[in-house]
Amino acid sequence: MYKQPEIIAIDGPAASGKSTLAEKLAEVLGYFYFDTGVMYRAVTYAALEAFQSVDDEDQVSELAEVIEIDVRPASKKDGRKYDVLLTEEDITWGIRSPEVDANVSKVSAYPRVRKAMTSQQRRIGQRGRVVMVGRDIGTVVLPEADLKIYLDASVEERARRRFAEQEERGVKLSFEEILISLKKRDQYDASRAIAPMQPAEDALILFSDNLSAEEILKKVIELVLPEYEK
Ligand code: CDP
Repeated sequence: MYKQPEIIAIDGPAASGKSTLAEKLAEVLGYFYFDTGVMYRAVTYAALEAFQSVDDEDQVSELAEVIEIDVRPASKKDGRKYDVLLTEEDITWGIRSPEVDANVSKVSAYPRVRKAMTSQQRRIGQRGRVVMVGRDIGTVVLPEADLKIYLDASVEERARRRFAEQEERGVKLSFEEILISLKKRDQYDASRAIAPMQPAEDALILFSDNLSAEEILKKVIELVLPEYEK
């Protein structure tokens, strides 16, 4: 008999459309949507605020072990999907800055930072009825996930998407700058020693270059809810 997946893991490189897919999928299923990138971004933001740099691994790791990151329902209608709080500070947009983009992969490669974040993520994921997004959800955080998707796209297509997003928010970076930054981050994320970004052996790999967000969503919904009619 068909059993609907309770834990859904979506991994893949930056700007491949993971968040859009996960958010809509969670809405259709009535599941909790959790974007784990937010946590690494929050640690990076906090470290930049506190130390103006993320280079001191011990310092950043200690910070990651004590900071309180909270994700709550959106309190403002400014395009946000949720609030991200660092203690009580609203850092929802702060974690999307080019400075955080440029430093987050370094922070997320620190083993103690990963350990601190992974244990919190597992606790949330194991409650079930969740769509969790990241780089290592299907491989490390929740290898028991019932459905694993690895969403990929060419780096040029991903840079086009990120450029459009940032332009909308008034961030003034050129397409070239974004392309270079994405390539660097991919390289870092895929080659780190712990929990590198890679598809789980049992992941379904989807390539989104020639598919719209709606088409990807439709494909995945057909998998999860075979009876679902749009
Ligand atoms: O939104 P975007 O795809 O640009 O990135 P993100 O999902 O917010 O993740 C930001 C960074 O956090 C990634 O480039 C990874 O370095 C790190 N990350 C990770 O290492 N493991 C995760 N489960 C999620 C994010």
